[in-house]
Amino acid sequence: MWLSSILYMMHQYVYFLIFFNICTSYTNTVNTQTKPYTVTNVATRTWTEAIILAKEFVAQMTLEEKCNMTAGVAGHCAGFVTPVPHLNFGGLCFQDSPSGVGDGIQFSTAFIAGIQIAATWDRDLFYQRAAAIGQEFRGKGVHFALGPMMNIDRNALHGRNWEGFGADPYLTGENSFYYVQGLQDQGVVATAKHYICNEQESNRTYHPKIGPSQGYSANLDDKTMHEIYLWPFAESVAAGAGSVMCAYNQVNGTQACQNSKILNDLLKGELDFQGNVMSDWGATKVGIQSALSGLDIEMPGQDGLMGYALLQAIRNGSVTEAKINDMVIRILAPYYLLGQDLNYPPVNLNYDVTRDHYLLNRQLGTAGIILLKNTNNTLPFNRNTDKYYSIYGSAASRYSDGVDPHGLDGLDGALYQGGGSGYVRSTYFIDPLTALLISARDFHLQIQYIIDQDDYVAINRSLENSGFLDGKCLVFINAWSSEGRDRHNLFAYHNGDNLVKTVAARCASTIVIVNSVSQLNLEAWIDNSNVTAVVWAGLPGPEYGQAIVDILFGNYNPGGKLVFTIAKNDSDYGTNITETYNSNYTEGVFLDYRHFDKNNITPRYYFGYGLSYTTFSFSTLIIAKISQENTNVHTSYRRRRISSYSNRALLKFYEPLYTITFIVTNTGNMNGSEVPQLYIGFPDEAAQPPKILRGFERVYLDAGESKKMTLALTSRDISYWNVINQKWIVASGKYTVWIATSANNSDIKLDGFFNI
Ligand code: BGC
Repeated sequence: MWLSSILYMMHQYVYFLIFFNICTSYTNTVNTQTKPYTVTNVATRTWTEAIILAKEFVAQMTLEEKCNMTAGVAGHCAGFVTPVPHLNFGGLCFQDSPSGVGDGIQFSTAFIAGIQIAATWDRDLFYQRAAAIGQEFRGKGVHFALGPMMNIDRNALHGRNWEGFGADPYLTGENSFYYVQGLQDQGVVATAKHYICNEQESNRTYHPKIGPSQGYSANLDDKTMHEIYLWPFAESVAAGAGSVMCAYNQVNGTQACQNSKILNDLLKGELDFQGNVMSDWGATKVGIQSALSGLDIEMPGQDGLMGYALLQAIRNGSVTEAKINDMVIRILAPYYLLGQDLNYPPVNLNYDVTRDHYLLNRQLGTAGIILLKNTNNTLPFNRNTDKYYSIYGSAASRYSDGVDPHGLDGLDGALYQGGGSGYVRSTYFIDPLTALLISARDFHLQIQYIIDQDDYVAINRSLENSGFLDGKCLVFINAWSSEGRDRHNLFAYHNGDNLVKTVAARCASTIVIVNSVSQLNLEAWIDNSNVTAVVWAGLPGPEYGQAIVDILFGNYNPGGKLVFTIAKNDSDYGTNITETYNSNYTEGVFLDYRHFDKNNITPRYYFGYGLSYTTFSFSTLIIAKISQENTNVHTSYRRRRISSYSNRALLKFYEPLYTITFIVTNTGNMNGSEVPQLYIGFPDEAAQPPKILRGFERVYLDAGESKKMTLALTSRDISYWNVINQKWIVASGKYTVWIATSANNSDIKLDGFFNI
């Protein structure tokens, strides 16, 4: 009793400290420091231990039970694996989404979108977000979370870009890695999806009228497959992901879920993936062929393709019992890997698991906001002298019909997420207008607003109102997209560009806030001299209002960076969404900034770009080969990457070979953060784009402060995929090293090289 009271008090005190820390972080004049979010890891096992337990379990199952387990059954979750009562196994619950517990259930936190967390370029935040998401899945008793979603932003129109981590495989890979670790450290299995090359929604089920509908075919070469699309999946497998979801589309002419090359060879062979492959919902088109090609569990099942139907296949010799055993061991191994056999909470989907996660979510959302333009330091506003604000655009406010109108349709309000199975129903949403009105009350600001953006008479009239003539004009625009459909163009919704032009024609200090799922064409107004600042709010989650107020008024110094290039012309991206059966990835490895570099095309904003309210300088680049003595980097780097459930077979790729050390100084007079980005140029033998991202670290510096930073290049980072030898090879010759603040060559701050 006595001991438990003390423990209780300590527990409350820790909570108080966490709460106090997070709250105070928003009352500082300029906050950029990230506060570690406290997470508790649960007991996990190694793959070897887990597989032994799964084998013991399978040895006690009947053949019928084993077959039944290879297809989903009806249940409360999006997907459900059949229970085996006589072995005290209650089944497995699979549930969306990558950014929180979804599928319409209640009392979940709608965490910021994948595209937004990627824009923070902060691995600690990648991890903290995933850990909090994991806590919520666990709290509701969900065994497998259907995320991370890691398809590459190959084309700006893709409806699901917002769920993913942008256009670069390295950045996507780092996000995937820390997502898997954060989630699985809470005992929840991560499902890396959609494997592979699901980079468009159009025609994802191509021809519904000709028998079993098939997806479009993504056609690509071996080098592109390895270096761009497989890379992030390799990272999640290396992190120890328990499950991989195969996609709706075909890959080089064969349906992804029955494609032995990508499932048996690449995933289970080359990457030594020990977990299971589950099909996307309805992506299994045939049974036996899929099982033989590497599919382990068909979702949502109940269509007679796998499951009990495989019993007949075993009896007639088309599938062996050993094969079924392997499938079931793979289905169960992640359950043992993460200790789900030990006191896992029961499934209770509407159980309130939100805790105080809104505080972390607010921090994450703010950290992912990107400052694109800031003429003459328009931002941050000064609350003492900038007193008048005119606010325009339906995207500033709530949907007209509620916080959560349809989930699938982005309508007329500010967006906290995109649509489809990635969408999480929030318990609340604080829109920018609400937060700005509260600021007006607290700081004595005069505000007017017009939300009906078709009412140009009112908009024009408002600009002449007394006091507002020299005030600030905030124009909110947005663009929404969803699973199941791609965008038709890259313009802002609802004539948003016209709205900006109308306001900017009369208001000399127009600030545009862009709330978008992925790239947008900004050309209609970006060069207008009255548009003095542009803030890329992205998809900052339900704390959007608070986050944008913190940025506009300088409570938080913006430090997010673009995770894709923003082109001047839509055709500059060099890829398209196919309306036909074939999607040819003819650009190869020349995607996004790699394509702009190769073809010398100047975009509007470069990949990796983002401004701050302060300035930074860089000095003293030292490139060193890691020696036996230099074990410090070695061990800290490894410690950061390895957990008990990591995939051991891939470890040799992650041995650091070189360190890149340099000093960053905050030369301005505000605390702030910068993201030094490490790009490398390969020797010719590797046939690589001019420069490739291979490292980054977000560093938080007080005004005047300097920090020495060390980035490590691993064997994988400096290898290319050799299609002849079918191996990752370190090329011979000169490697150029650039430390830059974006993929723009004029943003290169330091350069050096090493020879191999
Ligand atoms: C989506 C998946 C999702 C699944 C289950 C599919 O339509 O493509 O991402 O996990 O549905 O809801």
